[in-house]
Amino acid sequence: MKVAGTVKEVREQVKEWRKEGLSVGLVPTMGYLHEGHKSLIDRAVKENDRVVVSVFVNPTQFGPNEDFESYPRDMEKDSALCEAAGAALVFHPEPDEMYVDGYSTFVDMNTLTGGLCGKTRPIHFRGVCTVVSKLFNIVTPDRAYFGQKDAQQLAVIKHMVTDLNFGIEIVGCPIIREQDGLAKSSRNTYLNADERAAATVLNKALTEGKKQIEAGEKDAEKVKKTITGIIESEPLAKIDYVEIVDWKTLEPVESTGGAILCAVAVYIGKTRLIDNFIIEK
Ligand code: PAF
Repeated sequence: MKVAGTVKEVREQVKEWRKEGLSVGLVPTMGYLHEGHKSLIDRAVKENDRVVVSVFVNPTQFGPNEDFESYPRDMEKDSALCEAAGAALVFHPEPDEMYVDGYSTFVDMNTLTGGLCGKTRPIHFRGVCTVVSKLFNIVTPDRAYFGQKDAQQLAVIKHMVTDLNFGIEIVGCPIIREQDGLAKSSRNTYLNADERAAATVLNKALTEGKKQIEAGEKDAEKVKKTITGIIESEPLAKIDYVEIVDWKTLEPVESTGGAILCAVAVYIGKTRLIDNFIIEK
């Protein structure tokens, strides 16, 4: 497995693979890889001849008071995980390789990005769309893999690929959880022991909400109330949002009868965690 720091190295490698007629999968990440990322790499390895994993903590998707500086990083461990999982290339650029002096072009989206995480993180999706577009242009993959834990991101990227004619298949992959149900996330490492125990409330609340829908509850407000009540019973938890939205438009729904995304963002201490379930129709 190769580790490349420059766009030029990646392009040269992909050109070689293309000459041999090989297909290429991309797994974009911000590093500090865990089982969730590994599941994306495993799927990509199954479905493509060669897999590129990008490891880049993208500064443009963090707001001024967010955790860009403190975001966990461990390149040695990440490389080992990628190699063991069968990736062929890790792209690990420095910020000035991706955003050269004078950089001024951004990809923005008028729909899908205003609600849910976009409310408290107003520049987040502009940064995500920009860096993912750049990665798509650099790697030119056949397929790219994203986790459903970031459900809004998955919807935004699918939409962007259609809007901008990228011609790349976007593959959404299921949430991977700890044994006690907490969704795997690099940010879980911020939690102390009490917070880690408290964090299980996200999945507990969502599980109850899902059960209520499966038992026939159609009123989205009632389901949201159940979820909110369970989260509020945890003293270390502070709700950012509990939303039920249409899984296509990401607009709030009154009825849970169609294809829906039920998503929560919750502060456990200072750490903001997200989780969700999707009901497809
Ligand atoms: O989901 C992430 O880790 C990031 O938002 C992504 C897609 C790698 C873009 O920086």
